[in-house]
Amino acid sequence: MRWGENRTHRCYMAILAFLLLVLGLCEPNEATSQKPNILLFMADDLGIGEIGCYGNYTIRTPNIDRLALEGVKLTQHISAASVCSPSRSAFLTGRYPIRTGMNGHDNGGKRVLLWNAASGGLPTNETTFAKVLKEQGYSTGIIGKWHLGVNCNSMDYFCHHPLNHGFDFFYGIPFTLVNECEPSRPGEIAVEYKEKLWFDAQVFFITVLTLIANKKWKLIDITWTVIVIFALSGTLFFMYWFIAFAFQPYWNCLFMRNLEIVEQPMDLKTKSGQIIKEAKAFINRNEDKPFLLFVSFLHIHTPHYTTKEFRGRSKHDLYGDNIEEMDWMIGQILESIDHNNLKNNTLIYFTSDHGAYLEGMEGSPHLKGSNGIYRGGKGMGGLEGGIRVPGILRWPGRLPANTVIDKPTSLMDIFPTVTNLGGGMPPKDRIVDGKDLMPLLEGHVLNSGHEFMFHYCAGHLHAVRWHQTSSETIWKVHYISPKFPEGAGACYGLKLCPCSGEKVIYHVPPLLYNLSSDPSEKNPLPSDSELYSKVLPTIQKAIARHNATLHKVPQQLYGLNNAWKPWLQPCCGTFPFCWCNKENDP
Ligand SMILES: *[C@@H]1O[C@H](CO)[C@@H](O)[C@H](O)[C@H]1NC(C)=O
Ligand SMILES: *[C@@H]1O[C@H](CO)[C@@H](O)[C@H](O)[C@H]1NC(C)=O
Repeated sequence: MRWGENRTHRCYMAILAFLLLVLGLCEPNEATSQKPNILLFMADDLGIGEIGCYGNYTIRTPNIDRLALEGVKLTQHISAASVCSPSRSAFLTGRYPIRTGMNGHDNGGKRVLLWNAASGGLPTNETTFAKVLKEQGYSTGIIGKWHLGVNCNSMDYFCHHPLNHGFDFFYGIPFTLVNECEPSRPGEIAVEYKEKLWFDAQVFFITVLTLIANKKWKLIDITWTVIVIFALSGTLFFMYWFIAFAFQPYWNCLFMRNLEIVEQPMDLKTKSGQIIKEAKAFINRNEDKPFLLFVSFLHIHTPHYTTKEFRGRSKHDLYGDNIEEMDWMIGQILESIDHNNLKNNTLIYFTSDHGAYLEGMEGSPHLKGSNGIYRGGKGMGGLEGGIRVPGILRWPGRLPANTVIDKPTSLMDIFPTVTNLGGGMPPKDRIVDGKDLMPLLEGHVLNSGHEFMFHYCAGHLHAVRWHQTSSETIWKVHYISPKFPEGAGACYGLKLCPCSGEKVIYHVPPLLYNLSSDPSEKNPLPSDSELYSKVLPTIQKAIARHNATLHKVPQQLYGLNNAWKPWLQPCCGTFPFCWCNKENDP
């Protein structure tokens, strides 16, 4: 080989090396444009005052705390409602429940779905983030609690079911946990029927006595009226008995795998282990393609079922044990992410559907939650404790670590955030109330874009928050709030605080708080102060603008839509004898 040739060769080599280098430099860019995985954790009824990194020093939550250490902790993260079904509908759609008919009604406790066999639920024409991400090629799964309905017209349509709302995998309960799901606990739904049952039993008893006396002494002819009363009260008696006591665990406590019922009634003992197993399996199945996994815990809702390993471990009885178990479950699932080398390409989010339950359950009033310094709790739509929840996001390399953001953000923000990250678009034909969180989290902007937030209790506007960016002040005005028994901080004796009627206070003039300096909402501003007269009109105008965007939509949680309909009862077997155990049979 001549020298010149060699030089040309070396020159080619240099060009080749340069090209490789350029390609090499391009590689990380390609990696970042790859779609991220989304892993969402939602606790049920967990309060903001019950996690280590939010200031609880007696409950151990090392795994959640680690997420905050490696990511961003939101300290003013607000749920759209203070009870399950409405809050969850808003989370999945990015829209206030009042827009989707999922707001509920405070009369007769119809604020959440009460039956698997109800016809209400998340309307089919609403778009969840799962639906958008699925269209973008994501594998979409939900494990755990749904509580947004099953069927609407017929048994085999599953119109409200997760699989009809963009998820291609479901393993969990279509309903919520109730005390009836745990045989050792006093019934919860049964309580509502106790009085009716007692009245009916008396009618029944008196009728029987009348009939016997009549037969013996022939006082009057047995008329058809007596027979009809007898038959009617007898039927009602048995109906209440079935609904209230006997069939409750079968009708409401069931577990599904996709569209199939696999356990009826469900066995709570096995659930923590199975949820971890299914979540890990989902992550392993999808390690090579983008996925969205929503782990919607049954913890820490009553009856606080906790496995043996965690019972008696915490300083807060079964309640604390249950939280510590949930934290451990999160650790187990995160292990799968790390193990599959997905940590840097997965956005992880942790939240709770609303504030902690303060009233405590019948039979175990000491098992109640804490919302830290915030007033109020679950069921109280306007008070901070009902709606301010933990919010943590971790995405190493993309989001800063160990960062705290105190700007108002909403659970509804997850909708535009993850749809945008997945390459999709929020629907354009409707109002989406959530805001994309990424610019705020990455530090590109200073504010979330939520200038006003509307805090509903069922269909009643209880309070409004205003983030006045010019003075960096958070104002909150209360129009309606629950009336507590003297000196109490919750509606003891009731299952939930009502949203309207005699047991609430209508504030005239409305109460105005400076939440920035008074986060516990203790000292309202004098209504004759100059500040009050400046702030209130701005908020009133915002309400008028908000009201102009509302339309009448079918009510999903009210009236017949929230009644038990036998023909819609998901049933594994022959109705009314619904039972099976398909996954644990040897
Ligand atoms: C921690 O949580 C428990 C359970 O809700 C509660 O009783 C306790 O007061 C909380 N501690 C703090 C410091 O908030
Ligand atoms: C869904 O359908 C209901 C009933 O027809 C309608 O009122 C509502 O506006 C629709 N929602 C959307 C987002 O299209």
